[in-house]
Amino acid sequence: MPSATAPSDSGRPDSPSSGSWWRRAAIYQLYVRSFADGNGDGIGDLAGARAHLAHLAALGIDAIWFNPWYPSPMADAGYDISDYRSIEPVFGTLADADALIAEAHGLGIKIIIDVVPNHSSDQHPWFAAALAAGPDSVERSRFWFRPGRGINGSLPPNNWQSIFGGPAWTRVTEADGSPGEWYLHLFAPEQPDYNWGSPDVRREFEDVLRFWFSRGVDGIRIDSAALLSKDAALPDVSGSEPPGPAHPYTDRDDVHSIYQAWRAIADEYSADNYGERMLIGEVWLPDAARLTRYVGPGELHTVFNFPYLDCPWDADALRRVIDETLALAAAPATWVLSNHDVDRVVSRYGRPDTAFSLDRRPYFHSLPVDLALGTRRARAAALLTMALPGSVYVYQGEELGLWEVQDIPDELRQDPIWARTLGADPGRDGCRVPLPWSGTEPPFSFSPAGAAAEPWLPQPKEWRDLTVAAESAHADSMLSLYREALRIRRSDPAFAGTPLTWRQSPEDVLAFDRDAGGGQDTRLPDTGGPGTTLRCVANLSSVPVSLPENASVLLTSGPLDGGLLPPDTTAWLRIG
Ligand code: NOJ
Ligand code: CA
Repeated sequence: MPSATAPSDSGRPDSPSSGSWWRRAAIYQLYVRSFADGNGDGIGDLAGARAHLAHLAALGIDAIWFNPWYPSPMADAGYDISDYRSIEPVFGTLADADALIAEAHGLGIKIIIDVVPNHSSDQHPWFAAALAAGPDSVERSRFWFRPGRGINGSLPPNNWQSIFGGPAWTRVTEADGSPGEWYLHLFAPEQPDYNWGSPDVRREFEDVLRFWFSRGVDGIRIDSAALLSKDAALPDVSGSEPPGPAHPYTDRDDVHSIYQAWRAIADEYSADNYGERMLIGEVWLPDAARLTRYVGPGELHTVFNFPYLDCPWDADALRRVIDETLALAAAPATWVLSNHDVDRVVSRYGRPDTAFSLDRRPYFHSLPVDLALGTRRARAAALLTMALPGSVYVYQGEELGLWEVQDIPDELRQDPIWARTLGADPGRDGCRVPLPWSGTEPPFSFSPAGAAAEPWLPQPKEWRDLTVAAESAHADSMLSLYREALRIRRSDPAFAGTPLTWRQSPEDVLAFDRDAGGGQDTRLPDTGGPGTTLRCVANLSSVPVSLPENASVLLTSGPLDGGLLPPDTTAWLRIG
């Protein structure tokens, strides 16, 4: 375990070493299995991540969010955790994680890890103990075990459905071989839900937080954060009750006491040499007022902005989401274009319907994709997103412009959603295909030369043009755009300044200003005065538009056309 020495920000003078670094950080989401394979078994690991930290530093990010890296039977790609205080052996060891944290800190990069408190793994010792202990035991009280309904209890205790398809209950066989109680799993059967009414569960997770904070972890991403509290009467759902106090398992009021306790722990650790610890919640809620309740000084620091991620490439719709997000004054905004659960952005924006929603993936996959159009829009969206006030998340591969791989052979699909919906929903494998690093053939250096196995999902051969090496060599690549945009975003005072001011603009064009000074971020100089305004202009219309006369161009997502900003292009301008 590393000693609690102050992390060094050497070489990155503008890097967030203290204070509210999370308020405007650029956070890279690293999906371990698919990032880089250090030992040649075809699966990404911590050795691979360590070997490529320099790539991330060069990209200009402030923090890395690691998807779950714990021991797991991998029924849901690590979101089924059998030991919350260790590292999955396929990924490495706890010593590797300690070294990685220290090395990242040395580069001025913070580390955020995923904690999954809604559910466990059916291989977790607590679940094994619950099965062995039988009905009415303390061990079973940490989960949701109930007798079934109907003759001989052969029907599930209620009508809840798994988010991955099928019933949310599985029946166990008791020690004497008889059909026994049922247990609740809002996701796969291998992911039994914890009962947060149990004091053991509360204590355990508070201790897990301390375990990782004391190793220098800087933040926690909380999985399925609105689902933890359940109505202990376990009533049927009608399907029409909105999330909130009247819903049996989504966004119930007492979930907040959990995060209030967690915030106190984060604040306690923020006083040590590693600096401020942050909590970000994965909260999918349609109602902004309910969402706001999760954030603030006594609770989570931020929540993910899923309405922005789901939003179509449409100026009015985007402006509405941006305004609604910024109206949530309780917390700095977060901006997310993609993650490991949703379709990759160049594919989404290349379809005739550019929205996204998790429950309509089969429909979206049935649409044709124009990759050139999608890529152009994704570039424009990247600059729009990075100009907004708040923090920004970049899902690995987004910076390379990787597309959703929709033609993975059925027999190679891994996502439980595919199997549990009997193939009706293709699931999330298409956004989890291993990254291409260099070379002209798969595995594109994802695995080392002479690797014993192929990548765990096949890479399209066309990705030879999208490798890190290939894109590094081209100034007009997606990677070069991300590097330059992140560099400017990090160093230009306007990006740390006031919230945005909308400017008048033609129809289907978004234009706003950011001014240096007046913001809450103290990392960058408050220069104020003329010549410090950033204007972001995103042209979502079908015609080129002119740019203001008193503007100089800082960066554009595509070439200008005779001084005009073409359709599906964004410009960052310096005004004055
Ligand atoms: C949300 C995670 O992002 C997703 O990948 C996972 O399957 C579910 N929560 C269940 O943990
Ligand atoms: Ca490996």
